[in-house]
This record gives sequence, C-alpha cells and structure tokens, in this order.
Amino acid sequence: MKNDRQPAEPFRIKSIEPISLLNREEREKKLIEANYNIFKLDAADVYIDLLTDSGTGAMSAQQWSALMRGDESYAGASSFRKFEKTVQEIFRKRYVVPCHQGRSAEHMMFSTVVKKGSYIINNTHFDTTRANTIHAGGIPVDLPCPESDSSEPLPFKGNMDVVRLEQFVHKHGIEKIAMVMMTVTNNSIGGQPVSMSNIHEVYQICKRNSIPFFYDSARFAENCYFIKRDEPGYGDKSIREIAAEMFDACDGVLMSAKKDGLANIGGLIALSNEELYRRIADLMIIVEGFPTYGGLAGRDLEVLATGLEEVMNFDYLDFRVKQVAYLGRQIKQAGMPIVEPTGGHAVFVDAGLLLPHIPPDQFPGLALTVEFYREGGVRVVEMGSLMFGGIDPFTGEKSLARHELLRLALPRRVYTNSHYDYVAESAKRIVANKNSLAGYKIVRQPPLLRHFTCDLAPLKPEKVKEKQKQ
Ligand code: F0G
Repeated sequence: MKNDRQPAEPFRIKSIEPISLLNREEREKKLIEANYNIFKLDAADVYIDLLTDSGTGAMSAQQWSALMRGDESYAGASSFRKFEKTVQEIFRKRYVVPCHQGRSAEHMMFSTVVKKGSYIINNTHFDTTRANTIHAGGIPVDLPCPESDSSEPLPFKGNMDVVRLEQFVHKHGIEKIAMVMMTVTNNSIGGQPVSMSNIHEVYQICKRNSIPFFYDSARFAENCYFIKRDEPGYGDKSIREIAAEMFDACDGVLMSAKKDGLANIGGLIALSNEELYRRIADLMIIVEGFPTYGGLAGRDLEVLATGLEEVMNFDYLDFRVKQVAYLGRQIKQAGMPIVEPTGGHAVFVDAGLLLPHIPPDQFPGLALTVEFYREGGVRVVEMGSLMFGGIDPFTGEKSLARHELLRLALPRRVYTNSHYDYVAESAKRIVANKNSLAGYKIVRQPPLLRHFTCDLAPLKPEKVKEKQKQ
C-alpha cells in the first residue's frame, strides 16, 4: 500500500470526444458575457473542465451495454429490481428509493423529517444539503474536527468533532435534533476522508441518544480506499468489506450517485425504517415519480447498478486517488498552496493564502477561478465566501467562509496526466502574475446557492502592499 508511483490508467480509451482551446481574446470575451460567473460559460468554450466530478465521468463498456437492458416499465421494472438488490447489498438497508440526483434525495428526506427550527448536524454540509436543510425549516450545524483547520498533512481531516457533538446534544436535547449526517468524503473540507473509528464513535453517540444517523455517501468508495490505506487494521480488507462495516453503522444513506455511482445522473436513499420509507415513498409519487423509478429512466438504473459495483474495484480507486495526488503535487510545484493531503476527488488551492491582498469579501477564490479560465481555458470552482458566505438567514449578518478555497475536481476516467500537466503550466503562469489580480463584487444574486447564478464585476486592482508581495 506504500507504493506512491502514479499507476497507468487501469483502462484503455475506446471512444473520444474532441476538445479545443479558444484564443485568449475569445476567452476574455466569454468571461465578460458570463458576468465572470464560470457556471454561465458554455462547456464548448472550456478546454479542460474541472468544475465538478459530479455526473462528468466516463462510463465503461459494461455500463454502455447495460443501457440496452433498461426496462422502461412504469412500475416494478426489472432494472429497478437489479438496482434495488445492488443497493441493498452495498448499503445494507432494506428499503431503497431511487432519486434523480443527490439534492432530490435531500429534499425528500429533509422535508419529511425536519421540523421548523430543528437541527441537522453534519461533519460539514455540502452547499445543497445546507440549502435543503434551510429550505425545510431546519438549522444546519457543522461540527468538523479540529484537525480540519491544520495545515499539517494529517489523515482523516474529514472527521466529525465528537466532543462538540456530545456537548451539542447535551445542550440542545435530542428532540430538537432531526438527524446527524456524515459526509464521506468531506467535500467542503478538501474532500478529506472520515475514519472508521470516528464513524463508530459518532454512531454510538447517536444510538445512545436515539438520534438517526445517516451518511451523505456521494464518495463512499473513495472514503473506503483511504480507510484501507491509512487506518490501522484495514489494510487487508477489501473495499466491499470496509463499505459493509461502514454502512452497518448507520440508519440510512443519502447519495448523489453522480460521483461514486460512476453515472451521469442518479441518486438514492437507502434506509431501514419502514415507516419513514413509506412517508418518503408517498411524497416521491407526488414530486419525483413512482418509487420504482424515482425520476430516472430504467436504463439509468442499469447504469447505476453496474457503476456502484465498478467503483469498488481497488485498481480503479488506487489509480483515481493517486491521480488526484499527482495533480496536487504539480499544482504545489507551480507555487500554489494546496490543502494537504489531497483528498479523493479534487485538489483544493488556498486562494486566501496565495492572494492575501484580496480580502475575503472580494472573493480571492473567484479571482483565481477567473484567472484559470483566462490563462488556460481551464474551468475550476470557487469554494470560499462566494459559495459558503452571504447573509446568514438566521442572524441577518454577513458571513464569510472558513477558508477561501478553489477546487480543481477531477472527473472520473476522463482526463489523462498530460491534461493535468497542462493545468499545472497554467497555474505556474498565474502565480507569476498573482500580484496583479484584483477582487470582485457581486452585482446581482439570488437568496440561496448564489454562486450558481449571480453576476459579478471586477474591482480595480489595489496597490499590493510591499510586505504582502514577498
Ligand atoms: N452531497 C455532496 C457531498 C455533494 O458533493 C453533492 C454534489 C451533493 C450532495 C448533491 O448532489 O449534485 O447530485 O444533487 N456535489 C457536486 C460538486 C455538485 O460539484 O461537488 P447532486
């Protein structure tokens, strides 16, 4: 397990999709047309798209052939039965609800269990879980472990703070806590994994207090890989065995299957409580579709059943995690400070550290995001105060993110290392020019999830103080 050499792809390429690079002048024009919001760029105008690892992966030959087996019957399709059986085996829960993506699973679950003013506790909410909690009248609470703030390359920085969890339960009482969730891997904290011992500790606290414990399991297989690699006692276990231990320690699972489902669309809820299942299934019929297809086509369910099995292949995961580390090393060598160790799906750059002359409320992560496109036609995403800050819906005060990060997410099985070498070369040119970068202001924004649709405008470059230049 100690071999850090980047393995060659454990697959060969059967089908290709041409990409091309607009010239600098054209890219500048596209940025202006998009009001500096990279979500508004046309994908055809992007050379290398590291916006997200969600729904952007390449399917295998097995998945493409599974498409043809899709049973499109409205009720009780054989494709649903296959999907249901696969989910039951991996996630070890009796009741399975397919959903069209992660946030629809969140919406259905939270609008069923959250009462006005009740808490959902998470190691760190992803933006859609946070928004759906608030949308259902709940209060999202993040309890990341203290190590998550450390610049040391420690393992399992994605853990939940169990001391603060105990204190929170004691202070607020169990009636006000709708559920505790563990996001594996912890996307908002650099895609960092959660250890099995932390999972067991949190589950025990929840069990003792009769609080439901669920996973946000979008990247469960990547998390299992880290447990196998870095947690004593798990080196000889298979990914499937580790997943089984993990999912035995919970009441249910929400999943965006656009990540570790190796699919372009899909999500799921798996749970053991029959009464809760019935309430969700009833709601499902009103908003998503009949519970045996859940807003998906039969062929999507086939693809998911195949993808959920493929993602647990050790060689695939070993390649995947090491490719993320490869890009991380290149970006660091280019002079950008990154979150270390690299996690399972992305490299996170600390834009706040790289651009100290741009204050958090002028979005240094966004300045760097815009620059990646301007410099190289590379699309990445800000994960700082633009995504996580804003007006706090509970206090009415202006809030900022804990860190001004920028994420380079790696689509699964899509880009080769030469693509990533190109990204690192762009990073190097940006670093050489970093003092000339300026901040941005928001000129229009919606009340929730503002980063997707807001319009931005560049501010005039400020004079960078001498001491910050060093
Ligand atoms: N939970 C986590 C941890 C996620 O990362 C995401 C999506 C969701 C839930 C919502 O799932 O997109 O299928 O509705 N993350 C994507 C990303 C969008 O870029 O990280 P969804």
